[in-house]
Amino acid sequence: MFFRNRFLFLLVLAALLAILSLSLQFLHLIPVTSIKEDGSSSKNQKRIMPDPLTEPPAIDPINEAQEYCNTPRTKERSMEGHAPHNFKLLSVNVLIRHGDRYPLYAIPKMKRPDIDCNLLPDRKPSHPHLEAFISHMFKGSEAQMDGTLSSLPRYPSHSLCEMGELTQTGVVQHLQNGQLLREIYLKKHNLLPDEWTAKHLYIESTSKSRTLQSGLALLYSFLPNFDWKKIIIKHQWSSVFCSASCDCPMRNHYLEEEHRRQYSFRVKNSYLEKTYVDMARVVGIPTRQLRASNPIDSLLCHFCHNVSFPCTKNGCINMEHFKIIKIHQIVDEKEKQAKQFYFKYALMATHPFLNQTVTRMQRIAEGRKEELFALYSAHDVTLSPVLSALGITEARFPRFAARLVFELWQDLSKSKEHFIRILYNGEDVTFQTSFCHEHDRLSSRPFCPLAKFVHFVRREMFAIFNSTNYYDACHRRVF
Ligand SMILES: *[C@@H]1O[C@H](CO)[C@@H](O)[C@H](O)[C@H]1NC(C)=O
Ligand SMILES: *[C@@H]1O[C@H](CO)[C@@H](O)[C@H](O)[C@H]1NC(C)=O
Ligand SMILES: *[C@@H]1O[C@H](CO)[C@@H](O)[C@H](O)[C@H]1NC(C)=O
Repeated sequence: MFFRNRFLFLLVLAALLAILSLSLQFLHLIPVTSIKEDGSSSKNQKRIMPDPLTEPPAIDPINEAQEYCNTPRTKERSMEGHAPHNFKLLSVNVLIRHGDRYPLYAIPKMKRPDIDCNLLPDRKPSHPHLEAFISHMFKGSEAQMDGTLSSLPRYPSHSLCEMGELTQTGVVQHLQNGQLLREIYLKKHNLLPDEWTAKHLYIESTSKSRTLQSGLALLYSFLPNFDWKKIIIKHQWSSVFCSASCDCPMRNHYLEEEHRRQYSFRVKNSYLEKTYVDMARVVGIPTRQLRASNPIDSLLCHFCHNVSFPCTKNGCINMEHFKIIKIHQIVDEKEKQAKQFYFKYALMATHPFLNQTVTRMQRIAEGRKEELFALYSAHDVTLSPVLSALGITEARFPRFAARLVFELWQDLSKSKEHFIRILYNGEDVTFQTSFCHEHDRLSSRPFCPLAKFVHFVRREMFAIFNSTNYYDACHRRVF
């Protein structure tokens, strides 16, 4: 009897806690910003409860592919900038993947998808800033860009896209990102002073035209008609942004292990192998050659642009081929996480980037008013390891124009402490990270203390290697 009562008591307590937790979320952490059909952002009168139950748990390859395409939508929910009013926003670091691009590889003997990379404001998808963006980019010769960046075109312009070229969809995706961040960080939180200068920004891009152009599109909507003289863009030659700390033999070791895992997982999948054989028959080339041409990349372009899959006299590539390869990619992602080679690779690969982010946050927390907004324009192979290293294992593979945001906040009440929030595509993932998983959501502080992030990056992330620092972990051989 006593046991039963205690059980009921616990049940009631649990229910109360659940209600309390929901109402806390409701008070501080509910999305209120949306982008309307005409692209202008507005406060949403209706507050929408996030519903974790609507996420389908089963694998739906078509739904996953649609998420990946990230076709510009009319409405986007976002949790960026949500905080109780006694918190002040100090800085924002944004890591983006470039927007929609033309495939990197062509399927041999197949007609390439016919996609126009010229920007035409009258063609869908479009954006109210698109026309002004083009003319502003045209005037951009005064920008200070490192080395190779200055010789790249500032917007796409080919009537048949070149391999890997950013498309109009890709530009629009980042115009939307920039506009959303502007509404939240500049208009609502006054992140930058009105008279901002080059020192308030930090911008870095890899040397591909698609990353430079994506970064510029985001910046253009974030700071409309910005003065080119205030824009300095650093060049990053490494796709994981390891700058001057790229020497790390063990990182390469774990990446090789991961490639071996990926290979053996693929050859174990007889459905997948049969699919490649069948597709190779359609195309009329050896299976090995088809596989090497990474057909899913091309097929995703067809899918995202609603262009029918290619045909030959032997038949057509069809939706079943596409689905099977896509399902394999999704299951492979799960196995990749379970096996941890990639996780170990990711910890080492992303330390320099995370270390730089942490250092910047610490300086700002100490009162320095520089690099308040940092933008890194990058690739899926940049975002994916950062998500893995942070322990955000539930995250989807980075879609086109994905964004990962690190916010730094100060509690203006007596404690004056500093906190961070991490957001992935507008979703608050702070408490999915390995270093803030345990942090009590119900404590009076709804965010993750900066100190926890600093400790993780400077020390804890090397614990799995029995090391306490980057150099040691990178050079200690483990077998
Ligand atoms: C995709 O193309 C088909 C025919 O080619 C068309 O019927 C359909 O409406 C298109 N879908 C979208 C979303 O544009
Ligand atoms: C991490 O940042 C600190 C402080 O800026 C710096 O002294 C250190 O060299 C950095 N470590 C690496 C591996 O980049
Ligand atoms: C770390 O040390 C423990 C105990 O000494 C050992 O079992 C483990 O294999 C080591 N891990 C690595 C990555 O060296």
